[in-house]
Amino acid sequence: MGVFTEEMLKEAENIVAQYPQRKAAIMPLLWLVQERFGYIPNEAIAEVAELTGTTPVHVEAVVKFYEMFHERPVGKYQLMLCTNVSCLLRGADKTLQKLKEVLGIDVGETTPDGMFTLEEVECLAACDKAPVLLVNAVELFENVTPNKVEQIIAELRQRYGSGDKETIQ
Ligand code: FES
Repeated sequence: MGVFTEEMLKEAENIVAQYPQRKAAIMPLLWLVQERFGYIPNEAIAEVAELTGTTPVHVEAVVKFYEMFHERPVGKYQLMLCTNVSCLLRGADKTLQKLKEVLGIDVGETTPDGMFTLEEVECLAACDKAPVLLVNAVELFENVTPNKVEQIIAELRQRYGSGDKETIQ
């Protein structure tokens, strides 16, 4: 028994049918898996390969290449801080340090309560608002100076506690 349930398999067939070549469905199928599990379990790699007529090595390469795919479980809030040139010039290194302090974790780690995962990412195409912090790939916090970090974390915690899961996967 793999990670694809019967329901997911039906959806996967519909997705694959939308493309002239099966392998073009690799990313949407991976997204389907991640929506369900919050990350890409190892077993899903071979299943996606079979569904798309490719090899596990090929699918694994796609997972590793795109930062939006997670190879491990992540927190409710995935915090992606850009530390590329523009953001770095505007103090992203200090913002990163503050995030580590406030969360008590390092880059790539998840808080013990499973609430936050901290990641460093490349340019998010919002250089004019640097430094920027992307939350769960849907919400962008701009001009994130160190003194804003505690407020942002508190806001996210409060939002989760209030049941507003707008940015929660
Ligand atoms: S360098 Fe950070 S958004 Fe472009």
